[in-house]
Amino acid sequence: MSDRMIAVIGGSGLYRIDGLEDASWQDVETPWGRPSDQILTGQIDGIEIAFLPRHGRGHVHAPSSVPYRANIDALKRLGVTDLISVSACGSFREEMAPGHFVIVDQFIDRTYLREGSFFGTGCVAHVSLAHPTCPELSATCATVAEDAGVTVHRDGTYLAMEGPQFSTLAESRLFRESWGADVIGMTNMPEARLAREAELCYASIAMVTDFDSWHPDHGEVVIATIIATMSGNAEKARKLIARLPAALGAAHPPCPKGCDRALEGAILTTPEH
Ligand code: ADE
Repeated sequence: MSDRMIAVIGGSGLYRIDGLEDASWQDVETPWGRPSDQILTGQIDGIEIAFLPRHGRGHVHAPSSVPYRANIDALKRLGVTDLISVSACGSFREEMAPGHFVIVDQFIDRTYLREGSFFGTGCVAHVSLAHPTCPELSATCATVAEDAGVTVHRDGTYLAMEGPQFSTLAESRLFRESWGADVIGMTNMPEARLAREAELCYASIAMVTDFDSWHPDHGEVVIATIIATMSGNAEKARKLIARLPAALGAAHPPCPKGCDRALEGAILTTPEH
């Protein structure tokens, strides 16, 4: 049992959160460089919170150049136990409409320009990623979002694309019809991989902004469509975040799914090396 510290990585449109007591922006250095921005720390309902805008305040990091390793390492150094990723996404499903939240439980990773591991030179580890999100944390996020009046889809497969351009129509159809993806975004990978290597409970809240380009009635996705939905989504996310600490509680018991022990048995390098 440890004290819980909750981190939120905010995506496009979510550059601040409400209701933090003792709020201050902190510089955190890591061996992987600087995180996307300073990290806002404080408490909500007596529980420690850290908030990091993924793209930086002012949206200065494109998806391919977000310092994912520094972000996760910086949060780990602050003592974070639970990480909630909030991001904008396109939808491949009629029923997952703009304004809805999808609690992602699987990923297909199509990124290729990003450093995706803390391990590889000097220390080799292979963590399991079969279930890349924490079911307990995800379920609480879903319940709290529903209580806040949001339409929530409790499972979904997120296709992580490199970007920064949106998909072609052929890609959009392939991901939706053949690969079974439900939503698409540019930032959840390698974030989810790194969170697992850092032994954090990780939940991903993907906020639908558009229907990508497959939908015959909605045409192609353009940034103006995303921006039109983004601020309403961010407002809902802020409501959810304000209620989440009380729902999770101050104590972090051992994760029933072992997210907090992911490295046990995963390191292959012998201790003398
Ligand atoms: N973020 C929001 N909408 C998106 C889309 N259609 N594709 C990729 N990333 C997105």
